[in-house]
Amino acid sequence: MDSKKAHINVKSLPKHIAIIMDGNGRWAKQKGMLRAFGHENGTKSVRETVEVCAELEIENLTLYAFSTENWNRPKLEVQTLMKLLVSSLKKEMKTLQKNNIKLSAIGNLDSLPSKVRNELKDVMNQTETNSRMTLTLALSYSSREELLNTVKEISIKVKNNIISPEKIDESIINEHLYTQNLPDVDLLIRTSGEQRISNFLLWQIAYAELYFTSVLWPDFTKQHLYEAIIEYQKRERRFGKTSEQLS
Ligand code: IPE
Ligand code: IPE
Ligand code: MG
Repeated sequence: MDSKKAHINVKSLPKHIAIIMDGNGRWAKQKGMLRAFGHENGTKSVRETVEVCAELEIENLTLYAFSTENWNRPKLEVQTLMKLLVSSLKKEMKTLQKNNIKLSAIGNLDSLPSKVRNELKDVMNQTETNSRMTLTLALSYSSREELLNTVKEISIKVKNNIISPEKIDESIINEHLYTQNLPDVDLLIRTSGEQRISNFLLWQIAYAELYFTSVLWPDFTKQHLYEAIIEYQKRERRFGKTSEQLS
């Protein structure tokens, strides 16, 4: 079963993988079940993904778990997702510790129910010094909102003479994003066949390799992630240069 893993070149792994975990609802519907069933089964795929990244020593994994726009879903579904978050955080705490994984979160965390916020803070505090890998959850996340906040924060600093406008550069913008400590995304994966970004990490994916798969998130296994990494390694990342310049 581990056949695909053998084709991965451990010397050119992405340093940062981001995933838009999509298709839970359709997966459940196909089985004649409620959407909540899809979300519950999606947590297995989260576990497999984290395991692969840890075992391959990929330093950063960022998972899109809940967008700002997802607040507009039916109240019951939002409640289910929030409950699932709390129970998953509780359940996975030990595994994160055992594998030396640091949990982090990006998004408008203040808008989360206090139960989720507290559990999240708890796990983040307890895993703060872990160094093998950073697992970042995007929760109540909107990339445009992140950029808006960045503009506001920098404007205030300019107004108070902390930064001069001529000094504003990409690194200053990076420092003000939620993702301030993370490198740019190398590989962005979206499951479920949708080929859009849905307000995720717009600045940070400027030069990411995009990988779309029709697999629904609850069906996404280790083998699918190996496949995505193998495909990533076949791409030539030119960053504007010519192919000849690279070799
Ligand atoms: C992804 O699956 C999970 C969240 C967005 C929270 P969906 O719930 O979007 O599933 P589909 O896209 O309706 O199938
Ligand atoms: C994007 O999925 C958000 C998450 C995966 C958390 P959606 O299912 O909400 O995206 P759209 O609405 O289809 O673009
Ligand atoms: Mg969806």
